[in-house]
Amino acid sequence: MMLKAEKAPTRSKYFVICLVAFAMITTGYLLYKPLPDGFTVTKWDRVVMHIAEPALRVAYYYPSRMFSKASSMVQWTRGALNILSKTLGLLVNTHGQIEIKWHSWNGTPVKVYRPKNNKTSTDGAVIFIHGGGFALGNVDMYDSLVERMAYDMKTLFISIEYRLSPETVFPGGILDCESAIEYFFKYGEAQFGINTSKIVVMGDSAGGNLATVIAQRRADRKASPTLAGQVLIYPLLQMADMQTISYRYFFSRLSGYALVDPESVAYYYMFYAGINMDEKSYLVPSVMSNGHVASHLQEEIDEMMKYENVIESTRQYKNHTIPDRWGVLPNYEAQRLMEPFLTNPDFSPLMRKDLSTLPPTMVLTCEFDILRDEGIIYAHRLEEAGVPTTLINYENGFHAMLNFHSELHEASKSVDDIESWTLAIINGANEN
Ligand SMILES: *[C@@H]1O[C@H](CO)[C@@H](O)[C@H](O)[C@H]1NC(C)=O
Ligand SMILES: *[C@@H]1O[C@H](CO)[C@@H](O)[C@H](O)[C@H]1NC(C)=O
Ligand SMILES: *[C@@H]1O[C@H](CO)[C@@H](O)[C@H](O)[C@H]1NC(C)=O
Repeated sequence: MMLKAEKAPTRSKYFVICLVAFAMITTGYLLYKPLPDGFTVTKWDRVVMHIAEPALRVAYYYPSRMFSKASSMVQWTRGALNILSKTLGLLVNTHGQIEIKWHSWNGTPVKVYRPKNNKTSTDGAVIFIHGGGFALGNVDMYDSLVERMAYDMKTLFISIEYRLSPETVFPGGILDCESAIEYFFKYGEAQFGINTSKIVVMGDSAGGNLATVIAQRRADRKASPTLAGQVLIYPLLQMADMQTISYRYFFSRLSGYALVDPESVAYYYMFYAGINMDEKSYLVPSVMSNGHVASHLQEEIDEMMKYENVIESTRQYKNHTIPDRWGVLPNYEAQRLMEPFLTNPDFSPLMRKDLSTLPPTMVLTCEFDILRDEGIIYAHRLEEAGVPTTLINYENGFHAMLNFHSELHEASKSVDDIESWTLAIINGANEN
């Protein structure tokens, strides 16, 4: 389906884009809802978001409340995002300097973005793993972002088409990524002239989860060469505490907007855990209160999540009061189903106790994101464990903003930050 769209004549492609853009602007006008203060800064960014946010609301927020089956919601959202994403990234121009090719590595499809004529500035490479709650998104949807980074950094990028849930559940996506990455470590030098000691893994949201799970598993196996670094962009790292401050902030300030919301995290994470959410959606209210956490796991979880002070000191929520934690609604079925996952680092990488063997790390978090706190806690724990760590919290940013990297200043700036950190890591790896 995607291939057909790419081959379609340019004129009809632009017609479709104009049509979608027009529909989005009309929707933005009809469903106008003021954005919270500080949600993006420049005038331009706010105008763009006043169009994009209602379009997303129509594309997935409202429909997700209409479907009686959760899996139909996933199918619908996949389709809607595929269409909406065609209006994004049109301003990216890499001047024909990046050659893009599909490969299949150990059975996993991989797209390779390679600066033409060996015009690379480094002999390193970046492995990109896209986000979308383990269930949405694909490599094509991230084309403009990955191509831009390959162009700006003059560096080889690969982007992995891992299989999605609910069709393929945990740990299928991890294994897909790992088999492609194994291939790359083995043949990267011969096929692309890269130095495999200079590979950085990068992912956003659920892709950030996969990226760091892969880094942890590699460190555990003492695989050589080690990864040179990991870039975790508003990563999803745990679902044992769904009442962190950033989660609670959502309920006081952000509900009703098409942002990643607690309910969606519950659905998508549980689909990934292999739970049939078409039948088990009645568990969600309990899960959103932490009622899925068995009491014998609580101590271990509290130990990993205890960084309230760190969170308080980085909190920019401008004088907004955060509601207190609310009562837990225990549900024993949810506890039984989720028990194998909540403290399993392959599923919840924040729960790994020893982080000291991980490579240098960059964590990006956004103020308007329920996942903000877990990213900050992970960065803090990595640093405590002696891992060189850079944490940037974008005070005006929101979850998934990198998908608007060519439209929004704030998002574009964060891409610049990622590029310079990653290049420094790749080049710095020289001296070790
Ligand atoms: C590009 O680099 C590869 C690997 O180092 C080398 O085999 C190839 O000849 C180079 N191609 C050009 C056009 O320089
Ligand atoms: C927050 O509250 C303090 C004390 O009430 C006040 O001085 C400050 O200006 C407020 N800040 C914002 C951003 O509203
Ligand atoms: C590859 O990079 C590592 C680490 O920077 C360095 O020690 C090694 O000499 C490099 N290998 C080659 C073939 O350049």
